[in-house]
Parts: sequence; C-alpha cells; structure tokens
Amino acid sequence: MLLSWAGTLVGFFTILSPSTSASDGAVYHAQSDHPANVVHRALFERQDGDQRVGIDALDPYLWPGTKTHLLTGESHQQAIESLDALLALEDLDLSVRARVLLQRDLWAVLAWLLGRELDVSGEALAGRLARAMRRVAVEKESLELLEGNYASAVTSRRWQKAPTKDARPFLPPDLLAKEAGDWVTLGKPGPGSIAAPVHVAGFGGRSAFFVKIRVPGGRDATLRYLEKLGARTLTVARDGTYFFRGDLPHFPVGTTVALVRRALAITVDGQRHVTPFVTQIQFRHYLSLEAPPTDGMRTDLTPFQQVFEFELSRAAWRRGESGGLHALDRESRGFPSIFGHGVDPFESEGHGEEGVVLETCGSCHAQPGVYSVATVMGGMSGPGAIMAFSIGEERLAPEPTVDAVEIDRLLKHASELDSWKRVARWLEKVGQQ
Ligand code: HEC
Repeated sequence: MLLSWAGTLVGFFTILSPSTSASDGAVYHAQSDHPANVVHRALFERQDGDQRVGIDALDPYLWPGTKTHLLTGESHQQAIESLDALLALEDLDLSVRARVLLQRDLWAVLAWLLGRELDVSGEALAGRLARAMRRVAVEKESLELLEGNYASAVTSRRWQKAPTKDARPFLPPDLLAKEAGDWVTLGKPGPGSIAAPVHVAGFGGRSAFFVKIRVPGGRDATLRYLEKLGARTLTVARDGTYFFRGDLPHFPVGTTVALVRRALAITVDGQRHVTPFVTQIQFRHYLSLEAPPTDGMRTDLTPFQQVFEFELSRAAWRRGESGGLHALDRESRGFPSIFGHGVDPFESEGHGEEGVVLETCGSCHAQPGVYSVATVMGGMSGPGAIMAFSIGEERLAPEPTVDAVEIDRLLKHASELDSWKRVARWLEKVGQQ
C-alpha cells in the first residue's frame, strides 16, 4: 500500500487534556489575570460539552475548517478585547522566555487566520495579532543568551536516561550535545534540502525539527552505519519511476531515532531565530527489524518499536517543573493538528477524530527497520511498504550534520513557505502603521 503523507493521515496531535494544574491559565505569568494569560485563554480555550479544554495545549485548537471560533460572536470579541488590553500595557512585565512563548502562540493563530479569505473582522483580528507579535518581540542578542529547557528536564531525574525493557519514558542527556554525543543529527544532501520537510511545512515554518539517530555502540557506530547507508543510492530507476531498493543495510536492533521540535522567535527587526526551547520530542526505539503486521491503515508497532512523545507545558516550565516537558502516557488522546482532514472537531457533530496519540505512530512508521525511518524514505511510504516510489526524483541517503547547519538550511527553506510569506507581510504592514 502506497500513501503520501499530505492530507491522508494523521500526524502530530494536539493533546486533549493538558496538565490540569494549568487550568487557571497561568501560562506566561504567575498571575492568572495577567493580560498575556487572558490572551492565551481567549485564543486557546475551547468548549467541549461542559468541559473547557485547550489551555496550555502545545498548538491551538484551530483547524483549516474552523468556521466560527475566533471569527465571529463572543470568542471573536474576547480575542479582540484581550489583545487590545495586552497592546495597551505600558510595561509588559513578562520574562524573555514568556515573550518568546507568547509570540510563538500568537504566530500560530495568525498563520491559521491568514490561511483563509479575511473579512473585516478577520482583518481586525489579524492586525492585532501581528501588532502583539511585534510588541512582545525581543532583540536577537537576548535570544542568543536564552537557556533551553532540555537540560532541566534531564536533571529533574523524572525519566530514564536510556530505553528500558519495560518501555519507560527516557530523555538521553546527550541528545542535544553539540558534537561529541552519541546522537547524530541527520541532514539531507543537496541544496535547499532539510531533514524534516513534512513537519516544517505542516507547522508553517514556525518550528524547527531535528532528526537524530543513535545506533548501539554510540557515535562511532552510528557514523559507520550512516556511511554504509550513504554509499547506496536509495532508489533505482525503472521506466522513469524510481523504486526504493529492497536491500538497504539495516541498523542493529537497539537503535533509536528522535524528532526534536524547537520554537522559533521573530526578533524586533523581523528576523527569524531558532530558540533552544524544546516544545516536543518523539522517539522510536527498535526492538525488532521486522515489519509489524498491519490491517491497512493502523498498525500496532509494539513489540517491534517502542514509541514515546514528550510535550512542553508552558505552565509547568514557568513553575520550574522539569523544563516543562512531560511524557504522554499510553492513554493520552488528541486531535490531529497537521495532516488531519482539517475539520474542527468542536464545530462538527460528535468529534470522532480524537485518538490515542501513541497508537497512531504505526500509520506512518510500520515498515521494517530502516524503511520505517521516514527521513530516509523521503515521505513516500505507508504501512508495510518497502518499494515506495516517487516519479522522476532521485533519493539520496541522509548524511550526518550538526544542528547549526540544519538551522541555516531550515530558515532558508522556510522563508519560501506561503504561510511565512503571509505572516511576514502582515508584520510589515502593521510595522508601517
Ligand atoms: C502522518 C504520518 C506520521 C505519523 C502518524 C507519525 N509520523 Fe513520525 N514522521 C513522519 C514523517 C513524514 C517524518 C519525516 C520527517 C519529515 O519529513 O517531517 C517522521 C519522522 C519521525 C521521526 C524521526 C525519524 C524518522 O522516522 O524519520 C521520529 C522519531 C518519529 N517520526 C516518531 C513518531 C512517533 C513517536 C509517532 C507517534 C506518536 C509518529 N512519528 C507519528 C510521519 C508521521
């Protein structure tokens, strides 16, 4: 079965019930009624029956198909009023970290809004969101001094340092080490190529994504494996169509791959900057190189791969709890945030789309061994497929790189995305007013 990712399956999820301790919405500032927190509630909170959900969710509960929320009625009014109150502040009284997180969230909402035709009220909201993004922006120099949250998450000792037999969540201390750690960052050869184009585009270039791999034996063993993989052309041509060859060298059992998401910020002079704020990490750890049996769309990866996801809670980080990162458990449910069908589950009859997040990984990563590494396969594959194809395009194996190089490539790549171009136009427009 051959599938392309775009529009067919569910990828990243927005989690339904984030840490309940965040329910007072004190996400950027300790005072729950600080105007920034009020803005967060106005933009993120949704009504689910008699429950209010969405506060401190990693991504706002907004979809391409959202028809009324924030666009009309009371939710629109509240968004406008809360943004006006924020813009009226003489002293923001927010830390640099809070300003970065708030800007990131405003950016997500603005990008969503600009993905549609705007009427007068849409324009009124877009103008305020763009002004607020500029108002909370910080200088490049301050961003360069920021400390990330990953080290605090590791030193909190809440999680294992490496995979365990009983599949307990882990955060390896050297996952983000600049050069000397066991983990190697994957890059794609060729001008303009990045390791995770699907996720970068899915989030409109607002997040940076880094793909990492660790083979048992550490850094040297990992580099040796990548060299072996890189020596092969991944595809073979037949009648103008490229087929993945079926004899790619596998990494050994015990290999782990990671996808690390980091927040971007926009400086006072409109430059994008990749911050050290880790907002999400996914891991897959290989217990077997065989393909798990599949029933078509959904595939249970266990006991072939252990899967994990960590997410940032702004409120937990503000309170100093383990860098704000928490591991999703086996029951955490969520709605698709990218790659979904774009329908707003809160505006449609009985939202049937929420799923157990860790049970979805098999939809896209169920091939045997190296063939389940989507960065190798280049985003054309599906459950059980080895011979994925892509017409007229030659695939090259990923190669080792370092995060700093990937950041340069990624920023260039993302400046071509329509989503960024639309946001940049609005930032410029309100800057001239
Ligand atoms: C809709 C398909 C889809 C689903 C579902 C999905 N992923 Fe992925 N994943 C991808 C794609 C595509 C990439 C390659 C990066 C890119 O191009 O953005 C990727 C990359 C990764 C990577 C980096 C290594 C690699 O395979 O390239 C990890 C780790 C990962 N995903 C883990 C997970 C976990 C854990 C889950 C479940 C919580 C999951 N993924 C669910 C599509 C998916």
